[in-house]
Amino acid sequence: MPHRETRAFDGNIILTGFMGTGKSSVGRLLAARLGFTFVDTDAVIENRCGQAIHEIFRDRGEPAFRAMEAALAEELGAGDRQVIATGGRMMLDSANAAALSRHGRVFCLWATPEEILDRLSGTGTAVRPLLEGSDPEARIRALFEERRAGYAQFIPVTTSGKTLFAVVEALLAILNVPPAGPER
Ligand code: S3P
Repeated sequence: MPHRETRAFDGNIILTGFMGTGKSSVGRLLAARLGFTFVDTDAVIENRCGQAIHEIFRDRGEPAFRAMEAALAEELGAGDRQVIATGGRMMLDSANAAALSRHGRVFCLWATPEEILDRLSGTGTAVRPLLEGSDPEARIRALFEERRAGYAQFIPVTTSGKTLFAVVEALLAILNVPPAGPER
């Protein structure tokens, strides 16, 4: 029987935050460190639909996408030992948040709107249908302000000026997981 202080957390870890805050990259690395399954909700929905997110928005509409997120929240909430990177609005829906928090701890990744714009402007990044248009910066700022209070209900983790590894270490420290070291 492991001693209480050293017993590892084995529920789910849910990452939320605005688009471009690094939920998927951080989540993948964190899952590897913990030996948990990594789940990216956007990727699951894309695989099931056989379409990219922007095509789902275009062909089926945003409400259909949000309904798929809700069904997935219920499904994933029943599992454990998963690191779940959620789509940027998923956890702002109270039913989704309740379902996913059932056996989980929720962290919100934060970055400034400037950094978000910078990260989302990089080549190879997915098209974000909600940021399409002539002024994505203004759109990011408006949506960011609209969502700020919703994101603030979760444990905050700053990503500004931090490497991916530093963000993962910060999360592991909150989870009380000792830093990686040589096998003993
Ligand atoms: C959305 C965020 C996206 C994706 C969809 C809608 C949002 O996910 O779910 O484009 O409303 O914030 P990422 O946060 O992974 O970009």
